[in-house]
Amino acid sequence: MSSGYLWLKALHIVFVTSWFAGLFYLPRLFVNLAMVDPSSQAEHARLLLMSRKLWRFMQPLMWLALGLGTWLWLGYGVTGGWMHLKLAVVAVLLGYHQTCGRLLRQIEAGTDTRSHVWYRWFNEIPVLALLVAVVLVVVKPF
Ligand code: HEM
Repeated sequence: MSSGYLWLKALHIVFVTSWFAGLFYLPRLFVNLAMVDPSSQAEHARLLLMSRKLWRFMQPLMWLALGLGTWLWLGYGVTGGWMHLKLAVVAVLLGYHQTCGRLLRQIEAGTDTRSHVWYRWFNEIPVLALLVAVVLVVVKPF
């Protein structure tokens, strides 16, 4: 593969990793927000500010990860059965990302009633998606 391809793949992995830092940590903040004592307004406000900043930060990271991946896929024609299933995993991740945004808006509006247990299970979804996507793209089983 050309060095250009390898540079693109390296950048793709960097932005995928950075995007996942947000996909892992933002729901973690939601777990903490669901556990904050209602009398502790300062703690709630601090966690909400962190969530808003992280959510904003995650947008460009997601688009760079997906843009570079698409460049590798369509620009260099690297594809196969593994890529089709990987794209299905990417679709699930996009849905998860958008759901995080919707949950943040509900928490901001004070209309969210989900428990910290619900958020702990919600937080596991990107772990499973990462496992499947990385095995597909590295092992290329089909
Ligand atoms: C639109 C979305 C995406 C597309 C089109 C895409 C496409 C690609 C392509 C074509 C490669 C190069 C494969 C090779 O050289 O063997 C690649 C590498 C990689 N992708 Fe993606 N990708 C996308 C999103 C993701 C996501 C969400 C993850 C993580 C969950 C991910 C993880 C990786 C990893 C770890 C590699 C390096 C594999 C290796 O070096 O063998 N990609 N991607």
